[in-house]
Amino acid sequence: MQVVSISSLKGGVGKTSVTLGLASAALAAGIPTLVVDLDPHADATTGLGVSLGAGKQLGIGEMLRTARRAELSDNVVPSGWVANARRLRKGTVGRKPVLDVAMGSAYSGIYDRPDLSRRDVRRLTTLLSRVTGYGLVLIDCPPSLNGLTRMAWTASNRVMLVAEPALFSVAGTERTMRALELFRAEFAPNLGPARIIANRVRATSNEHAFRLAEMKQMFGDLVLTPTIAEQANWQQIQGAAHSVHHWPGESAKQSAATFDALLKNLTDSGGVRNRVARRPVA
Ligand SMILES: Nc1ncnc2c1ncn2[C@@H]1O[C@H](COP(=O)(O)OP(=O)(O)O)[C@@H](O)[C@H]1O
Ligand SMILES: [Mg+2]
Repeated sequence: MQVVSISSLKGGVGKTSVTLGLASAALAAGIPTLVVDLDPHADATTGLGVSLGAGKQLGIGEMLRTARRAELSDNVVPSGWVANARRLRKGTVGRKPVLDVAMGSAYSGIYDRPDLSRRDVRRLTTLLSRVTGYGLVLIDCPPSLNGLTRMAWTASNRVMLVAEPALFSVAGTERTMRALELFRAEFAPNLGPARIIANRVRATSNEHAFRLAEMKQMFGDLVLTPTIAEQANWQQIQGAAHSVHHWPGESAKQSAATFDALLKNLTDSGGVRNRVARRPVA
C-alpha cells in the first residue's frame, strides 16, 4: 500500500485539486484507493461527492482521537464518483471500483499544533496500520507544516509538495524541503524525498517558464512531470463534485491524461528510495 501525502506550506496552491485529480486517475485505473481528508475545511470530502454528517460514520478528527480503538474501515464512505464510474462501465466485467473517503472534520483542528507530542504524531499511522485492501492512500493536508501535516508525513512513504511557478512558491517549497529533511531524519527515516508538482502553469507566461526552470535547477528530477496547466473550467468541475475523468470536453480530457501520467510517474518513481534530496546552491 502506497501512502502519499499531498502538502504545501500555504493554501490555495492546489493540494486538494491534485488530490482529487490523482484520485480520479486511480479510480479510472482501477486502483482501490482511500482518500484521507486531513484538512479541517474538508474540501476534498466535498469534492469527492460526500455529504458531511449524512451518515453515522466518524470524521477523521474523531477517529484520530480514538486511534487505538477506531476502525477506519468502518467509518469510510464511498466517493459519489463511484456510482458514476459504475454507470459508465455498465456491461463491462471487472472488479468493483473502490474509492473511499475518510471524511474531513473540523475536530481534526485540535491536532494542528506546532508542538504535537511524539505519541500524537503517530495517530494516523496507528489508524492506517489496521487498514487493508487499498493499493493507494492519498492524504490531503492542511496548509501548514503543523501537527496534522506531520502526522500525515509520519504515516506516508511518499510526500508530494504542490507549488505554483511563482517567486514565493519556489522559496516556500525550498523551506518545506528543508523542514521535511529535518523531520525525516528524526521521525520518518523510511520516507522518500518529496516530489514536487508544479500546478497552474500557464504556457504563455514568461515568469512561469523562468520559475519552472529555476525549480528544475534547484530540485532536479524531484520535480515530477508532467506539470499541471491552469485550467479554465476547473472550479466548475470541482463545484459539481465530479471526477475530471467523467467530465465531458477536450480540456477535461487533457487534464485527465495529465493526472494519469502523474499517477504513473508517482507510483513508478523512486520516491521510496532512501536518497538525499538535492540541495540548492546557497
Ligand atoms: N490547475 C488549476 N487550474 C485552475 N484552477 C485551479 C488549478 N488548481 C487549483 N485551482 C483552483 O484554485 C483554488 C485553490 O485550489 P485548492 O486545490 O483548493 O488549493 P489548496 O488545497 O492547496 O488550498 C480552487 O478554487 C481550485 O479550483
Ligand atoms: Mg485544500
